[in-house]
Amino acid sequence: MKHWKRYTITAALPYANGPKHIGHLAGAYLPADIYVRYLRLKKRDVLFVCGSDEHGTAITMQAMQENTTPQAIIDKYHVLIKDSFEKLGISFDIYHRTSSQLHHETAQEFFLDFYKKGLFKEITTDQYFDDEKKVFLADRYITGTCPNCGYEHAYGDQCEHCGKSLSPSDLISPRSTLSGLAPVLRPTKHWYLPLNEYEPWLRTWLLRDHAKDWKVNVYGQCKSWIEGGLQPRAMTRDGEWGIKVPLPDAEGKVLYVWFDAPIGYISATKQWALDNNKTWELYWKDSDTRLVHFVGKDNIVFHCIIFPVMLHMHGDYIVPDNVPANEFLNLEGHKMSTSRKWSVEMHEYLQDFPDKVDELRYVLCSIAPETKDSEFTWKDYQTRVNSELVAILGNFVNRVMVLTEKYFEGKVPKAVENAEVKIFVTAQRDKISEALENFKFREALTEVMNIARYGNKLLTDKEPWKTFKENPEATGAVLYDSLQIIAGLSIVCEPFLPFTSKKLFGMLNMDAKNFSWADIGRQDLLPMGHLLGKAELLYQKVEDETIQKQIEKLHGAKSPEPLKVENKVDAAPVKTEPEFRETEPEKPEITFDEFAKLDLRVGTVLTAEKVQKADKLLKLTVDLGFEIRTVVSGIAEFFKPEDIIGQQVSVVANLAPRKIRGIESKGMILLAEDEMGVLHFVLPKELTKNGSIIR
Ligand code: MF3
Ligand code: ZN
Repeated sequence: MKHWKRYTITAALPYANGPKHIGHLAGAYLPADIYVRYLRLKKRDVLFVCGSDEHGTAITMQAMQENTTPQAIIDKYHVLIKDSFEKLGISFDIYHRTSSQLHHETAQEFFLDFYKKGLFKEITTDQYFDDEKKVFLADRYITGTCPNCGYEHAYGDQCEHCGKSLSPSDLISPRSTLSGLAPVLRPTKHWYLPLNEYEPWLRTWLLRDHAKDWKVNVYGQCKSWIEGGLQPRAMTRDGEWGIKVPLPDAEGKVLYVWFDAPIGYISATKQWALDNNKTWELYWKDSDTRLVHFVGKDNIVFHCIIFPVMLHMHGDYIVPDNVPANEFLNLEGHKMSTSRKWSVEMHEYLQDFPDKVDELRYVLCSIAPETKDSEFTWKDYQTRVNSELVAILGNFVNRVMVLTEKYFEGKVPKAVENAEVKIFVTAQRDKISEALENFKFREALTEVMNIARYGNKLLTDKEPWKTFKENPEATGAVLYDSLQIIAGLSIVCEPFLPFTSKKLFGMLNMDAKNFSWADIGRQDLLPMGHLLGKAELLYQKVEDETIQKQIEKLHGAKSPEPLKVENKVDAAPVKTEPEFRETEPEKPEITFDEFAKLDLRVGTVLTAEKVQKADKLLKLTVDLGFEIRTVVSGIAEFFKPEDIIGQQVSVVANLAPRKIRGIESKGMILLAEDEMGVLHFVLPKELTKNGSIIR
């Protein structure tokens, strides 16, 4: 394996147009941070950069829709996101911004370099323009009728109804989502990166040289892009918000956001170098530097194909050695989404659990979507915290601290080093290194916990509390070994659980500065007679109510009725489990023909509003593919109208119409009622064409 002299580690620059959720954290920022902290413990020269991605049409359009300015949006979220990362222990060396002067200059320098070398293709095409708002419209901001299925609300890039990918000119009667007017076509010139010309280079550098060391999910995606045929891609856009194209004949044109954003890693490095008296070029232009991009799966093509091609075109830059992208983290059975409010935002978690950062890091690392999509549930969060962090790691440390206090006045007892323990912990350290070097963070964390498991077993096997009376040396020996294990743990857990590590160093009265990765396994980390610090609990159990609250918050549901405590003087423990609803009795049998009379269909909620003076009812319009219906549904206690627009539903389509509060309701939405009385939509697992028959 190559010996790298230094490391440049990047984590995708988040768009500063909204908060970021724990799926983003698990996808890119947490693994990047673990890797970086590990390298620092190995005393490597490492630079960890990130910052806000502040450009892009999405931010401009959002500002128009929200009647504010892009600047106001990004200023707010830049601070919020940066602050959340800090509190979550994500240890960037710099958190920069793409709005900085230095970044604008750096991105323009790249553009001009390509321009002067004649590498761009200048192409003029017709683009849709909103005459009222005076802007060219990004594909997403044009809707119209799908030529494939006739759906009236198809987007300019895709019909969400039949799934066909479209371009705006395919739409029948297109409209601007900004003004509602029909957009007009206008010719416009742009500068294109001829990706196709770099296919041979990509085939060698990526497909051949990284066939073995890149993750299969990443390599596979790249391979299908390259084999699918690369096309020239416009690197400029029409608009005001962004970095001006540095050419005289380019009024009203800015750099494409995916052109400037990755260059943000370079400008962040430049700023960091200025602030710290370093040489930025070493981190980008020396072939002994390992460049690694941590990103989520939707960013793969930009970091594996487009940006490397740009670095290669420029000439003297290194290209990424790896892009260990993760897949997506789902939440309680659905895709995580900030706009649909189905998410756990980083800042919200921090508000609700300010002292449980390592708990989140632990759970997210344990379930990280490393090879395929994975799922976060609050119940699983609770289980992992309670039965792993509390019961294994916390318990081991606590027992050892208490016993040492009790029998040896909090001082490290006298004993001889135990070779067996040393061999075990050292072997664990090497397994963990190996896993981390290969970006297998879940596996690495399991091996960390196995050290604590080993410690617990040592205590259970040797029962030092039983031997003290007759053989205090035996007790001392077990506690000595255990304390050295904890000292090793305080180092080895630092990349994953930095706050725990800090606490452990404090409890052991050890100075973290004096130790590095190589010290893990040493059985003389704490000298004999060394006075320990004050013991404190590492973790607290997560109670049922706590997670119930989170689940309810997610569903926007009312809290279930509190349990009635009938007999307060009774000493019996108060039940904390939720009260289970009685299961309804089974219904009498029906024939197949009776079942076949039901016309069950897949539909999508187009609009939703509260029904006046009826707490439980929502009036919905549902697109059933063949027609749009009004359905009144008793779900208002569980779903906010704005949250279910776009929600797919299953509908009993041939239910006789009924008048509910004066509204004619045609059809019924299927819902599952759980033991708490909370309602959940019954749905096909994948997005399914409206009107599809359920049988
Ligand atoms: N802003 C993009 C996103 O959130 C990521 C940009 S990564 C960079 O998906 F390479 F462009 F910086
Ligand atoms: Zn369609």
